[in-house]
Amino acid sequence: MISLATRQRFDELVTRYPEKRSALIPILHEVQAEAGHLSAAAIEWVAGYLSLSPADVMSVASFYDMLELEPVGTHMIYVCQNLTCAMLGAEKLIRHLEGRLGIRMGETTPDGKITLRRMECLAACGAAPAIQVDGEYHHQMTPEKLDALLDTLQARSNR
Ligand code: FES
Repeated sequence: MISLATRQRFDELVTRYPEKRSALIPILHEVQAEAGHLSAAAIEWVAGYLSLSPADVMSVASFYDMLELEPVGTHMIYVCQNLTCAMLGAEKLIRHLEGRLGIRMGETTPDGKITLRRMECLAACGAAPAIQVDGEYHHQMTPEKLDALLDTLQARSNR
């Protein structure tokens, strides 16, 4: 399940922390990047690797919005819904995304390519409304910019 290369990265990663368990969040992010989400088996593996209980790992994994416990799309679109973004059009962006993709926030397109999520402040308030796509920030978003972004994602997925 966890590739040898990833396991070797973890062996190096844990040496950067005073305690092995402090590497929990970066390791969960890496496992998710490799597997797409954190399955029960992955939670158990990480717990064993860091000498934690599966319940400890699960409590952290379920706390953070960007850690996924269920399968998600190949591309993740997070739309900030917090105050500044809300005042500058976040709901309009959300309606545009839902309309274009035919799904609601929190759902994944039937082809498994795109998942939509609402998010609290993305710490990009100075360039609101902000969204994050596959870890990259996109600022001062408009429906037109969203269309261009979706076109790019869909073209990338069709390669
Ligand atoms: S309120 Fe949207 S990035 Fe802060």
